[in-house]
Amino acid sequence: MRLHKGLKVWGLVALAVPALVGLTAISTLADSTPSPSASAVALPGDPTKGATLFAQSGCTSCHGASLGGLIGPALNPIFKLPGVSNPLDPTFIIGIITNGRVHQAGDPGSVNMPVKGGNTALTDQDIKDLAAFIIQQNLTGSPPLSPDELAKRTIFWVGIAIVGMLFITLLLSQYNMRWIARRAAARRK
Ligand code: HEC
Repeated sequence: MRLHKGLKVWGLVALAVPALVGLTAISTLADSTPSPSASAVALPGDPTKGATLFAQSGCTSCHGASLGGLIGPALNPIFKLPGVSNPLDPTFIIGIITNGRVHQAGDPGSVNMPVKGGNTALTDQDIKDLAAFIIQQNLTGSPPLSPDELAKRTIFWVGIAIVGMLFITLLLSQYNMRWIARRAAARRK
């Protein structure tokens, strides 16, 4: 039957096109190397090393393992100490870790921030890494997607949508063809 032959060709097209779109979208996604979300912000050091140093240097005993604060103020979200305009300024963070801070009126708690948190062995680079870790933790609450990442996700979901729509079209057309055939058969009777 001519009608059915045409249907098969279109069925193949309807499956091949979305399959290609889908495969392209998936391969594009697979290609994407995870872009460091903090790359837009210049971190003063290596946040990964900073995380290790933070746990090893006893900072957790005062600021909490998840930076929520204990006898020291919370570092994420970072507490705004009186007289500090931008607590996420790398210069401020590096400064307070390097020099400590004597408790002042209006500060939370009652203890001092010890020089280098009490670890005289911390190098300048260690302190930069610690600062990078603290800043990064404050920023990763809702990391903005890079335009690249955004484009890839869009392609992916648009691909999925096209596949879905074409599949529905295929189902509907098949149903419609069967209905036409049935009507033609009924008329021939
Ligand atoms: C003995 C407890 C203690 C330890 C250990 C300690 N801190 Fe602190 N830290 C404090 C206190 C208390 C403050 C607030 C100072 C104030 O009240 O004047 C503070 C403040 C800070 C701030 C500024 C916070 C803000 O809200 O602006 C940073 C950053 C910081 N500490 C990092 C560290 C790091 C990194 C370490 C580990 C190397 C560390 N601290 C170890 C008690 C501590």
